[in-house]
Amino acid sequence: MDLESYIRALPKAELHLHIEGSLEPEMMFALAQRNGVTLPWDSVEATRAAYAFSDLQSFLDLYYAGAAALIHERDFHELAMAYFARAHADGVVHAELFFDPQTHTERGIAFETVLDGLERACQEAQTRYGISSRLILCFLRHLSEDEGFATLEQALPHLGRIHGVGLDSSEKGHPPSKFTRLFARCRDLGLHVVAHAGEEGPPAYIVEALDLLQVERIDHGVRAAEDPALMARLAREQVPLTVCPLSNIKLCVFDRLEQHNLRQLLEAGLKVTINSDDPAYFGGYVGQNYLETAIALGLSRAQLKQLARNSLEASFVPEALRSPWL
Ligand code: HPA
Ligand code: ZN
Repeated sequence: MDLESYIRALPKAELHLHIEGSLEPEMMFALAQRNGVTLPWDSVEATRAAYAFSDLQSFLDLYYAGAAALIHERDFHELAMAYFARAHADGVVHAELFFDPQTHTERGIAFETVLDGLERACQEAQTRYGISSRLILCFLRHLSEDEGFATLEQALPHLGRIHGVGLDSSEKGHPPSKFTRLFARCRDLGLHVVAHAGEEGPPAYIVEALDLLQVERIDHGVRAAEDPALMARLAREQVPLTVCPLSNIKLCVFDRLEQHNLRQLLEAGLKVTINSDDPAYFGGYVGQNYLETAIALGLSRAQLKQLARNSLEASFVPEALRSPWL
């Protein structure tokens, strides 16, 4: 079996996917036209050409601009259905989707519009593709903790439809400690908790996410490699890292995929997973992330199988329900 088919056949979970980051330029333009929204670019081609990023912030500026095309419930539904079709083709059996309500409520879109559209797609993905899914509400860390509390307030009537919370957007200068009270409240409400840490920020942010936010997974986490004591802890505690190799190259966290430390993290015994982050912006969905990383780092098939198994074990699906995949 060739490598691509081998990867596709591995049952896998995607645990680090921003649904707004799966908005392909073609859909962005179609929605903008349908909704009468003006985008900062003239064409699909010009949009793609603008996807040359120097760091996280240079990406986020475009990502928030593109999200302005999403207005109605059906837009969020179409967006997520397009993602599920791609995920299914890549052998994804379970997906935990991040969504950024503040990006939309700030523009006057109702919280329920976003949630209803995404949830309807999650239900349809189950019946159409047999993909199970969960929604994880991400707080934007460049905003204040009080703004996060206001968003949590809007989420309260819908907690049965929201599985967990995360922390995303501009990392540097916005340490996890800024959100200690908010995450404590979310844990009290029974929500799962994760956070982006150690993508651009220092290893100390990963330690804060673990100790202060008490997260169950670290999103990215690649800068853990700079701190041997933290590496030992992550291996000992088997804290899952949701690594996104193509994202890290596009955002210049590593210069080239051959220099990525995913294999080093895996061989140090950390519970590493492979994910796509914002596939419409970073040049590949989860299967492409597996494939390009396998080639660049010379991963064995046993290592690829381990990565896929890690993703299922690191998911928020209860252990008793994972057996059909393992
Ligand atoms: N990092 C931080 N925030 C984000 C990302 C990311 O990779 N993608 C979307 N929001
Ligand atoms: Zn991310």
